[in-house]
Amino acid sequence: MEVTARAPGKIILAGEHAVVHGCTAVASSIDLYTSVSLRLRSEGEDTIKLQLNDIGLDFSWPVGRIKEVLSHLGSPFSSTPTSCSLETVKSLAALVDEKSFPDSKIGLASGVYAFLWLYTSILGFKPATVVVSSELPVGAGLGSSAAYCVALSAALLALSDSVKLDVSQKGWFTFKAEAELVNKWAFEGEKIIHGRPSGVDNSVSTFGNVIKFKSGVMTRIDSNMPLRMLITNTKVGRDTKALVANVSARKSRHPDAMSSMLNAIEAISDEWSTIIQSHAADDLCLSANEAKLAELMEMNQGLLFSIGVSHASIETILQTTMEYKLASKLTGAGGGGCVLTLLPTHVSGAVIDKLVEELESFGFQCFTAGIGGNG
Ligand code: PMV
Repeated sequence: MEVTARAPGKIILAGEHAVVHGCTAVASSIDLYTSVSLRLRSEGEDTIKLQLNDIGLDFSWPVGRIKEVLSHLGSPFSSTPTSCSLETVKSLAALVDEKSFPDSKIGLASGVYAFLWLYTSILGFKPATVVVSSELPVGAGLGSSAAYCVALSAALLALSDSVKLDVSQKGWFTFKAEAELVNKWAFEGEKIIHGRPSGVDNSVSTFGNVIKFKSGVMTRIDSNMPLRMLITNTKVGRDTKALVANVSARKSRHPDAMSSMLNAIEAISDEWSTIIQSHAADDLCLSANEAKLAELMEMNQGLLFSIGVSHASIETILQTTMEYKLASKLTGAGGGGCVLTLLPTHVSGAVIDKLVEELESFGFQCFTAGIGGNG
């Protein structure tokens, strides 16, 4: 039996980091996907295999070995989403030889622990081959880990004996209760990878569209405002977990100043959502609204710099786009990763081509992606 599930990446339009501290963020899915194919193997073949196509790594574990490592838990098998303890993560590390990861990808070992936790919790010890492939750059702020956890949870739940998702029709993912279950499991995977995620990434990847997210509660934003964003990848790798921890450390050193800045970011997110939600399809205020969003992006970026998550590569992109009178901000955890540049409707294709050429001459990679598709 075989099933394939896919989930989109995301951009955070406003409010990253602040959202970890209970403030509002606005995020949108993008049309770049991670796919997970899961094929159950016959009982005679006693291994669980994981193939990570994009980083060229394969793992194969005898089921008996996984049972041995998890023996302190009895069976982790569970029909409701359960968190993986730190102690269990440490045990799972015995199954993953971190030396097999290229230096730059060492942080990805936690993605394999997340796989093992979700797999054994949802499917128990059934032998299978799981193949992961992604259109998303890894660790670049576009939600690659969330898309991985969502697609993986969806594929596992689709083959679980206890959950029985209806996969008979393409639209099954739109059934809310099922999507919520996928989202909850994906969040457990994200916790293993990121330590203290807000949940915005897995929520937007599961449900798609443009969403507002605050303290674990997601609200869909129905917007008629066309949004064009240039996405520039600095190609500077970074670690979301470390950046989130650094912001928390700065907050404990400067509680008043940091709270004011996080609250200011929340005000920016709230204004973002008001503008795009109230924009009518035939609205004559398009360029005025675009100008407001550009200002909000500039302010958001200034605050992200102040809370300590910008990077020299991000600043180079900001300076370049500023010469074109275009507003930009980092998206995701920062410290490298990707930068968004708002492309208002009045900006011509020729201008965009020139900007892209200039940015790419620094070694950055530019692309556009469809915003707000299905989860
Ligand atoms: O860089 P990414 O895709 O991991 O996004 C992280 C977003 C943060 O707000 C920094 C963390 C979170 O969990 O919300």
